[in-house]
This record gives sequence, structure tokens and C-alpha cells, in this order.
Amino acid sequence: MKVITGLALTMLLSSMAMANNTLAINMSQMENGLSNVQKGFLYNNPVLIKEGVAEIHKANALFHNSEETKKYLPKDKKHMSNIAFNASKRIDNASADLLKSLDKKQFSKAHQSYSEIINACGSCHAVVRGW
Ligand code: HEC
Repeated sequence: MKVITGLALTMLLSSMAMANNTLAINMSQMENGLSNVQKGFLYNNPVLIKEGVAEIHKANALFHNSEETKKYLPKDKKHMSNIAFNASKRIDNASADLLKSLDKKQFSKAHQSYSEIINACGSCHAVVRGW
């Protein structure tokens, strides 16, 4: 019995560690993507903006539904997984808008979508961190 409990505990802890590791890797991709988008706007380089958006999009796929998003929230914030998931959806929507505006060479509008992405990052972090 003790062995089984110990094993179950080890499995639980290692899956939690794996979830944490995945989260950290994805967040660093989010950060890298976001700074490439920023650099792209600063240096007026649409290719870099698009690369950054693609990085963000890839990392953001971690939160593809509300249940999945819950896994990455602290224990006392799991009931707010819908808000966190909506923040992730906002990132996807704003990214799509950003790319559309870029294609039409509407840079100012594209830049507004970039701000919207940052705000959405902040919405989820506000939930997670109790800001
Ligand atoms: C659905 C929720 C969610 C969204 C959306 C989200 N994050 Fe995070 N982020 C987290 C969680 C959970 C953590 C880990 C807990 C913490 O750092 O407070 C985190 C932490 C981070 C960290 C710190 C990582 C570390 O190793 O300390 C960075 C950087 C980060 N996020 C960047 C971003 C960027 C950039 C975006 C938007 C493009 C973003 N995040 C969007 C949930 C989210």
C-alpha cells in the first residue's frame, strides 16, 4: 500500500514538474515572440513582426481549451481558468488581426493589435499572480 501511494505521489509530483517546465518554456517563447514583434515595429521590419507573431501563436497553443489552461494555474486560481483561457483567445484574435493589418500595410492598426496582445498577457498574469 505504502509503495503504491509513494509511486502515485512520485508520478503526481513528476507530472506537476513537467507541467511547470512546459509552462516555463512556453512563457519564454511568448516573451521572445513578443520582443521580436516589438523590435519589428521599432525597426520597421514586417518580417520580424510576423516571425514574432508566429512564435507567440505556437506557444499560446498550450492553452487550447479551458480544461487544459487549468493545469497551468496555481491551485487557488483554478476556478478562474475561463478568464485565463479568454486571455489566451484574445492573444490569438489580436494576432490574426495584426497579420491582416500588416498585409494591408496598416501599420498603425497593426500596432494597436500588438498592444492588445500585451494587455491579454497581462490579464492572465493578473489572474495567476493576484495583481
Ligand atoms: C493563460 C494564461 C497566460 C497567458 C495568456 C500568458 N501567460 Fe505568461 N505566465 C502564465 C503563468 C501561469 C506563469 C507562471 C506563473 C508566474 O510567473 O506568475 C507565467 C509566467 C510568465 C513569464 C515568467 C516566466 C518565468 O520563468 O518566470 C513570462 C516571461 C511570461 N509569462 C510571458 C508571457 C507573455 C509575453 C504572454 C503574452 C504573449 C503571456 N505570458 C501570456 C500564464 C499566462
